[in-house]
Amino acid sequence: MQMQPPISLRRSLLTLLVVPMALAWLGSGVLIYVLALHYVNINYDRSLIDSTHALVRMIRSDSGTQELSPQVRILMENDTTDPNYYTIHSLHHGVLAADLDLPLPSPPPPVDGPPQLNSVVVDNHSLRVASLAVADKSSGDTIIVSVAETLRERRSLAREILIGTLPIVLILIVLVLALVWVGVSRGLRLLDPLTEQIAVRRARDLSALDQSLVPIEIRPLTQTIDALFARLRDLLELQERFIADAAHQLRTPLAGLRMQAERALADPRPESVRNALAHVERLSAGAGRAAGQLLTLARAQRSADDDAPTSVVDLAPLARACVGDRVPDALAAHVDLGYEGPTQGAYVAGDGVMLREALVNLIDNALNYAGENGAITVSVAAEPPMVALAVEDSGPGVAEEWWPRLGERFFRPPGSLREGSGLGLAIVRRIAARHGASVAFDRGHAELGLRVTLRFPARDTQSP
Ligand SMILES: Nc1ncnc2c1ncn2[C@@H]1O[C@H](COP(=O)(O)OP(=O)(O)OP(=O)(O)O)[C@@H](O)[C@H]1O
Ligand SMILES: [Mg+2]
Repeated sequence: MQMQPPISLRRSLLTLLVVPMALAWLGSGVLIYVLALHYVNINYDRSLIDSTHALVRMIRSDSGTQELSPQVRILMENDTTDPNYYTIHSLHHGVLAADLDLPLPSPPPPVDGPPQLNSVVVDNHSLRVASLAVADKSSGDTIIVSVAETLRERRSLAREILIGTLPIVLILIVLVLALVWVGVSRGLRLLDPLTEQIAVRRARDLSALDQSLVPIEIRPLTQTIDALFARLRDLLELQERFIADAAHQLRTPLAGLRMQAERALADPRPESVRNALAHVERLSAGAGRAAGQLLTLARAQRSADDDAPTSVVDLAPLARACVGDRVPDALAAHVDLGYEGPTQGAYVAGDGVMLREALVNLIDNALNYAGENGAITVSVAAEPPMVALAVEDSGPGVAEEWWPRLGERFFRPPGSLREGSGLGLAIVRRIAARHGASVAFDRGHAELGLRVTLRFPARDTQSP
């Protein structure tokens, strides 16, 4: 099997950061180039305008001639870095002089006004053109002077700025990543007090962690640990109570068993041995039942700790099946046991095994107390938005003053005639609580006996 590499906060953070940082680096490159080109353009445009003004001044000093003097020509053509092109247009005579036929700017610049800047493409070359219009008062003509240059130099300067700055940005990014690397280690040291707090704990100490030592970002984790501690505490308490209860429940029957054994040994007559054995049988059956009830109660309590039940149970067939199972017992006890309600469709969210356990305990009680020729009715009824499951009998019932205490562990109202461990109704209560159901005690039909009703929130479909 392939081992998963351990999760590393540092590595995850770096992997998370590397791609955005690389994109930021590229983005900053584009931005730097655009900005550099913008400021380079401003500067170059200024000097292009200056050249245009200079040319106009030279033309004015050569005034009278419609030709450019040789000095001016040499000056314009011998710009070695990025040669300037020029065109001198006369509105009356057309092109007077040019080393490149620049198109007339449209609209033409205002006469004796500020220079006009344009971008044009001539012979597949992008050019920046500054144009000035001056009036020739002597002839009444208008001269338009255009000076142009390619963008090559501007672009190469912007590129140089970019190449000079990009490594600096890259160094900054690497520095940030290194700081993240170091910062994670330093940040994790904030957890040291928490680690120490847990390390020095005793095994049974499940109290909540001291949140003041925990950075707020980690609190959801420590709160989850606290919640787990609380559940463990409950579970531990439950186990301790179970052990104490079990010891308590078994001590009495064991003492009884020992007494009966001693009596049989002291008086070996067959009838007293038989008598003692009958007691032994009754005591061991009681102890066995008590142990079973204790285990069921522990199971019901433990499952209350898990998530809410997710499957859907139909109470109608479940109740009918339980009644069917107990008919032989009812016949033996001369009790009329019956079911009232629908054959199906009483859906509740629940755990079928637990619900059956609850019902078995209620029917057990009813069978114990209904008395000879008594009657027991198990019923299921829709009481929207609830479903009611009730067991009632025609026995002596329980005095109303004890109803609030029915369901306490080991509680048996004074004068309980039948043997029992006093856990059946506690089991019923736990299972009901787990299913979000209420438990109500009442008198049975014709004010006789006891009716125990569990009311569950109904589910309208069979799907979970
Ligand atoms: N249908 C009933 N009619 C009369 N009394 C009842 C009825 N159901 C319960 N009781 C009384 O409530 C007491 C508690 O019932 P519960 O089922 O909790 O314990 P138990 O029956 O004594 O023992 P266990 O069910 O654990 O074997 C009973 O001992 C009995 O006195
Ligand atoms: Mg019982």
